[in-house]
Amino acid sequence: MTAGTTGATPIPAGTTADPSGLARLAMATLDANWEHDHTVPSRTLYPHQWSWDSAFIAVGLARSRPERAWRELASLFRAQWADGRVPHIVFNPALRVGAYFPGPDFWGTAGADGAPGVATSGLVQPPVHALGAWLAYRRAPGPAGLAALRRLYPPLVAQQRYLADRRDVAGDGLACIVHPWESGLDNSPAWDEPMAAVPAEAAVMRAYRRHDTAHADVAHRPTDLDYARYLAIVAAYRDRGYADRDLADGHPFLVECPLFNAAFGAAEHVLARIAPLVGADPGPHRARAARITEALLRRLYDPATGTFQPRDLRTDRLVPARTVLGLMPLILPDLPPRQVEGLVVEACSERFGVARRMDRPLPSHDRTAPDFEPLRYWRGPSWLNVAWLLRRGLLAHGYPELAGGLRRSMIQLVAGAGCHEYFHPDTGAGLGSPAFGWTAALLLDLLGEAPTADED
Ligand code: SER
Repeated sequence: MTAGTTGATPIPAGTTADPSGLARLAMATLDANWEHDHTVPSRTLYPHQWSWDSAFIAVGLARSRPERAWRELASLFRAQWADGRVPHIVFNPALRVGAYFPGPDFWGTAGADGAPGVATSGLVQPPVHALGAWLAYRRAPGPAGLAALRRLYPPLVAQQRYLADRRDVAGDGLACIVHPWESGLDNSPAWDEPMAAVPAEAAVMRAYRRHDTAHADVAHRPTDLDYARYLAIVAAYRDRGYADRDLADGHPFLVECPLFNAAFGAAEHVLARIAPLVGADPGPHRARAARITEALLRRLYDPATGTFQPRDLRTDRLVPARTVLGLMPLILPDLPPRQVEGLVVEACSERFGVARRMDRPLPSHDRTAPDFEPLRYWRGPSWLNVAWLLRRGLLAHGYPELAGGLRRSMIQLVAGAGCHEYFHPDTGAGLGSPAFGWTAALLLDLLGEAPTADED
């Protein structure tokens, strides 16, 4: 299904503001997207398994189908590479070639050092998996969950070690992303500056058939020029065999992202809570968590704006765009009060509009910026996963009323338009896939907790 260019989308049958009706819609969406051992984000747009999607989806599954939550995470980690990287896509070999672009042939990971036996991409995504596993356990505690945590703990630690050892390109304690897809916010205005330096021409895309624009409105997706650059960066990484040695020596995209690194730090905080349950020492996780927070403050905090900005390692400059990425360090429980206050001011400003009674959903980009685009993917539309993370941060730092405002606005979005992938940040109209996995899962999670529940 394709949403109209005006952004208006019919409300799917069965959509309702009644919480039990909404929960039924979310569960039906997750059931329809379940594929033997994982949940596809969308049957049409993203028919394989995606890494950070699975982490969010596991949290919602734990509220409804806990056994599937553990299978979801187990299937993803079966595709972990020998070096610890968790690939951002795990391809389902049963699907026809062309079900997604770029497919396994383009990635060509089979011969790469340490690649698993299944076809995957060679990139990673924000490491929200320890958080996903921990919250899945909190929502469905019991022997099966504990056994799953025991199995997941070593691969989760290996995932962190990969980022700390192989991706600390600047040697400053932060993990560097090597492709905008690794941020999860593919075409965020945050990447405009670093992407402008990547040589590519939109015309290159004539040689390929994009799959996404057959299933979503072209005006709601990244442009052909974006895609030409995405492919050029993948090709550069692929041509070095996905090795991370000497990345600083010529790789075309090297950025330290506030969301990615907030997730990296939050994972250590969560591993410190998981460790005692599985007979491990929480001490090293606490020490690593403290070092990541310190590095984020030193490298990505901009006192002039009171928010966090990505750092382009190729120019060693902070990127000026004020996107929702900058608010994400709020999920760190040890963020100092000064930065917490700065982020809350930014979140409540006209740019993002967080309030007890929010009149519009949280946008993915500063709504006062000239390049704010309310229909185009991560350049303005509202997404449930970043709003859900921000809500957790607000709860962690003692802002339950603002967290309540965000919760209401998220539930209203799905009540009005269904489990869409993203939403128009003014009208709430549904955009992208109409049956999206993490929207369904995170809605279930929100419905399952008290409006001002404590952060857990
Ligand atoms: N988000 C990307 C896509 O749109 C890939 O991870 O396909």
